[in-house]
Amino acid sequence: MVTLSQWASAVVCVVAVSTAMAGEVEVLHWWTSGGEARSVGELKKIMQRKGHTWKDFAVTGGGGDNAMTVLKSRVMAGNPPAAAQIKGPAIQAWASEGVLANLDATARAEKWDRLLPKAVADSMKYKGRYVAAPVNVHRVNWMWVNVAVLKQAGVTGVPKTWEAFFADAEKIRKAGFIPVAHGGQDWQDFTTFESVVLGVGGARFYQDALVKLDPKALTSQTMAQALATFRKVKRYTDAASLGRDWNLATAMVIQEKSAFQFMGDWAKGEFTAAGKVPGKHYLCAAAPGTGNAYTFNVDSFAMFKLKDAKAQKAQSDLAAAIMGAEFQEVFNLNKGSIPVRLAMDMAKFDDCAKLSSQDFMAASKAGSLLPSVAHGMAIRPAAEIAIRAAVSQFWNDDTLRVADGLTRIAQAAEVR
Ligand code: BGC
Repeated sequence: MVTLSQWASAVVCVVAVSTAMAGEVEVLHWWTSGGEARSVGELKKIMQRKGHTWKDFAVTGGGGDNAMTVLKSRVMAGNPPAAAQIKGPAIQAWASEGVLANLDATARAEKWDRLLPKAVADSMKYKGRYVAAPVNVHRVNWMWVNVAVLKQAGVTGVPKTWEAFFADAEKIRKAGFIPVAHGGQDWQDFTTFESVVLGVGGARFYQDALVKLDPKALTSQTMAQALATFRKVKRYTDAASLGRDWNLATAMVIQEKSAFQFMGDWAKGEFTAAGKVPGKHYLCAAAPGTGNAYTFNVDSFAMFKLKDAKAQKAQSDLAAAIMGAEFQEVFNLNKGSIPVRLAMDMAKFDDCAKLSSQDFMAASKAGSLLPSVAHGMAIRPAAEIAIRAAVSQFWNDDTLRVADGLTRIAQAAEVR
């Protein structure tokens, strides 16, 4: 039998060991809106429970451009954070610089290969070794809808085609609301644009034009139609949209000023944080014409090489926590996304998350599961930045002809 004093000294010993290996994790991210901050706060709590110190390195700016600029200067100065929110092809680009840590020991111990869809696991690896840990799956081709606004405008049901969308937008405007809440920042323009391209052209066309960057698709009649539709959406936004942050646009829908917002499901995190319930206060629907497809955006943390043993231990604990079932549930409940870890229980998730999960599987079978180009999932960063600029220029300058927009986007796609 263990005496009380033996038990007490064993406890002291365990605590001493864990404090001895307690380290600091500095985590760079751009999750600063209400819903985002709650979500990342959960990771901080888990790390603190493990005895580590969380050093928050939050850089404001939706879409993460500012965060990436700050990250580059820190890495160039030889002082990288332990982890940074990096995703898509950018993970490979950073790994090829030789600055990322090898997470294979943690991945093996935690069985990541079995817990992740293969395509996601592959995108977290460089030359076969894990260098990043995935957090979630966001769906980008959503349209957020305020129920009370539709009702007051006499609109029944959510528009499923662009034609129906514009007819409803007209009624909503006549009823005194701003039909589309938009934040006029280039990455938000691009987010709307890719949903329009998908809705007008379909999954195959999206793939050819925006993922493969096929010049024929980029200059086609279908792309011209997508640009014309995109411009028409702008007519239903308000004059004050330029420069507006995405979460303020979401707030316009939450506060019954606007009917619709085209945005990924991090917007749902704002509805959740405001105590709003899907089906009652708001609806999540695929953007018109995109119901059978799914544009995905997987957030992930790449880990940087560190020298200090305690910091390395904290870093591998962070990687393990990110892929752990506890974090995957609580984080995604707040963030609006769904867990990336397979076979998770979805019981606590709302109807939007359940729909996202079902549509993800259905799109994956149908071949219409597509990477979000606007969110860094598909193409080389230089081309993405150039296309995004061309798309915004078209959105902001009504004197530009559709033909000019086509040429500029096609030229941007060639940037290396
Ligand atoms: C990220 C999301 C984030 C959103 C707004 C997206 O690119 O993947 O996690 O909430 O930008 O900042």
